[in-house]
Amino acid sequence: MDFKKHIAERIEAGGLSQDEIYTMLALPPNTEMGDFALPCFRLAKTMRKAPALIAQEIADAYPTDEIVSEVSAVNGYVNFRIDRVFWAKQTLSRIFAEREKYGSSDEGKGKTVCIDYSSVNIAKPFHIGHLSTTVLGSSLYKLHKFLGYTPVGINHLGDYGTQFGKLISAYKRWGRKEDIERGGLRALNALYVRFHEEAEKDPALNDEARSFFKKIEDKDEESVALFEWFKELTLKDVSKIYDLLDVHFDSWAGESFYNDKMQPVVDELREKGLLKESEGAQIVDLEAYGMPPCIILRSDGASLYATRDIAAAIYRKQTYDFYKCLYVVAYQQNLHFKQFFKVLELMGKEWAKDLVHVAYGMVSLEDGSMSTRKGKVVYLEDVIEKCVEKALGIITEKNPSLENKEAIAKTVGVGAVIFGALYNNKIKDITFSYDKVLNFDGETSCYVQYTCARANSVLEKGGHAGGFAVGNICVQEFELIKVLADFPGVLHDALEKYEPCFIARYAVDLAQVYNKFYFDCSILNAEKEVRGFRLALTEATLIVLKNALGLLGIGVPEKM
Ligand code: ARG
Repeated sequence: MDFKKHIAERIEAGGLSQDEIYTMLALPPNTEMGDFALPCFRLAKTMRKAPALIAQEIADAYPTDEIVSEVSAVNGYVNFRIDRVFWAKQTLSRIFAEREKYGSSDEGKGKTVCIDYSSVNIAKPFHIGHLSTTVLGSSLYKLHKFLGYTPVGINHLGDYGTQFGKLISAYKRWGRKEDIERGGLRALNALYVRFHEEAEKDPALNDEARSFFKKIEDKDEESVALFEWFKELTLKDVSKIYDLLDVHFDSWAGESFYNDKMQPVVDELREKGLLKESEGAQIVDLEAYGMPPCIILRSDGASLYATRDIAAAIYRKQTYDFYKCLYVVAYQQNLHFKQFFKVLELMGKEWAKDLVHVAYGMVSLEDGSMSTRKGKVVYLEDVIEKCVEKALGIITEKNPSLENKEAIAKTVGVGAVIFGALYNNKIKDITFSYDKVLNFDGETSCYVQYTCARANSVLEKGGHAGGFAVGNICVQEFELIKVLADFPGVLHDALEKYEPCFIARYAVDLAQVYNKFYFDCSILNAEKEVRGFRLALTEATLIVLKNALGLLGIGVPEKM
């Protein structure tokens, strides 16, 4: 229930609308003062009275009811206190009624949102640099679905470009089918690296690569078959990781999918007088917008990354009639997105305003290594594997007799990798540290998972709550209720700002507040009525923590 709305509807002040009052209602610095506060300083001007007097008048006129139990005026603020029992009953009944749906809504009903994420490149390593786009995009996908939208997950595969000519040339010279079958992506990448080394000594190789690429374009049977095989091998390898991370896509339409969809774009640009020739290339001049030109066709007539993105956006609009189209791509590509969004706007596509670049920062490892830069590739698969292995070590040490350790370590280790990438504001560069993401006492998924295991064990011993009565509510219980009640609002904000980190932080907060309650208040040894209520709080916490982690793509083991 929206208490702010309830309060705002019952206040008349200085001719302000309910919406204005709603936005003015704030959270007091501590709950001793109240649960919501209305600062009256802004009203002093229009009402021509001292804030303290206005606050007093509003407080006197406010009709308390079963929801708002107390109103007081303090130093120019009106403080409102929500009835604890009402709040607790409301929150817990909603959680128990909705359970794994608690927090969901239908606010996105009828709205389709395309989400372009992960978008890996064929025959290139799936490295730590892809972690953020993959888990951010996947979480945004789940979140949109939970809030009633129709998400379309798109893996805009990097499956077009001269590099495939290089790969064919390298394969024909040094590759062996069995090695590639066995080695997958890594073997392909090794071929690619070798090509570059050899081409440095023998630049003629580059011509050979170009001619192979041309062969793909001309649909030469052998070259196309090799390319398709590389693609298949790549998808087989990355799918293993997607499965581990619980990541899914509805469309795998990559760059090559738009091969036959760019000519109409070029024609339209020309028709609209947007195309200009510059040094043989066809460009859209963006100088007026403070940007370098967007190159549409190279001087040899070849299309570019941007050309494909323009065609893809138009295709997506036609196919899905999206409400929004999100691109979860690193901030290094800021300019690219600004440019092609602008080109679409100049083409008169009014929906260009619905394209959103959801930019995020870089991930590096503690030892300073980062993807391909130093030629040192950190494969995402290796990071996950190492995390799972370390998780197994920690779990075995903490709880040697635990059954099913391997499966639990997998859930914990994979969760730690995901959570590590989602805990901070997405735009921040992060340094990935195994010790940090696997710290059971830190701001981590394992801390949250561990709290779930604790709640599970309380419920196992105490029996599930079923019905509950609410009597006096202590501070720890009340803090817990407030956080539990917050969840739907947090999800709404997370979606609005495209910040799954709000959910991650929320999960840690809730776990902390629950643990405080767990240590301060006895649950199983409390007297009957209190015991029932505390068990209900425990079960509600478990439900909400599971929902929160689930939206991040993280599972919850029963025991740890
Ligand atoms: N494959 C690209 C890369 O690795 C990312 C593609 C992002 N999506 C897009 N529509 N441009 O940089």
